[in-house]
Amino acid sequence: MADVKIAPSVLASDFGKLADEIRAVDQAGCDWIHLDVMDGHFVPNLTFGPPIIQSVREASAKPFDAHLMVSNPDRLLETYQKAGADIITVHAEVCDHLDRTLAQIRELGCRAGVSLNPHTSEDCLRYVLDRLDLVLVMSVNPGFGGQSFIPTVIEKIARIRDMLGGRDVDIEVDGGITPDTAPAVVKAGATALVAGSAVFKGGIVDSYRQNIQAIRDSVKDL
Ligand code: DX5
Ligand code: ZN
Repeated sequence: MADVKIAPSVLASDFGKLADEIRAVDQAGCDWIHLDVMDGHFVPNLTFGPPIIQSVREASAKPFDAHLMVSNPDRLLETYQKAGADIITVHAEVCDHLDRTLAQIRELGCRAGVSLNPHTSEDCLRYVLDRLDLVLVMSVNPGFGGQSFIPTVIEKIARIRDMLGGRDVDIEVDGGITPDTAPAVVKAGATALVAGSAVFKGGIVDSYRQNIQAIRDSVKDL
């Protein structure tokens, strides 16, 4: 599986030197930079928003993959685009008008993603399949890094891949991804892997390079 994208989640990085951490995973060979935006409302944790994203935008030319774990994402979509997000992913659980929200993300020139919590059925995607560029399947309950992978999502990924038919839509998986858990999700149809703790352990660029390579190696012969 040569073309599986690796998206390090900066949630596991040292926020005190966030721009340097992004430069380091960029140099270490990642594909996307995964930015976990948390509002302390939809999820029980707070991280950062558009001003911080804008301030680190110059640290990498790679796509910024903004995962919005926020209630009411609609009112700030343009602000995230202006801050430098290339992919904007909203949670289905908080979007009353998902069709409209996805259309707005594309109108802004970004790739449109929907994320599903572990308990959320894929059924809500059925009528927005042509509005999607990415489905972000949560394999932990969102809010924190370093949690254990929930294996029931493997079946969900396969169902989503089936629903998508031949559409060119990424399935990205987020939470508890390691070289041990990555093969099953890629076999089921995932094309992008978020990894926080598994990438940022070691604290230096050489470790990040080895950590990213270990995930790539775990899925290369599938
Ligand atoms: C969880 C976040 C994840 C998190 C993953 O709410 O969406 O991106 O950083 O962390 P790990 O890879 O440590 O499970
Ligand atoms: Zn995430």
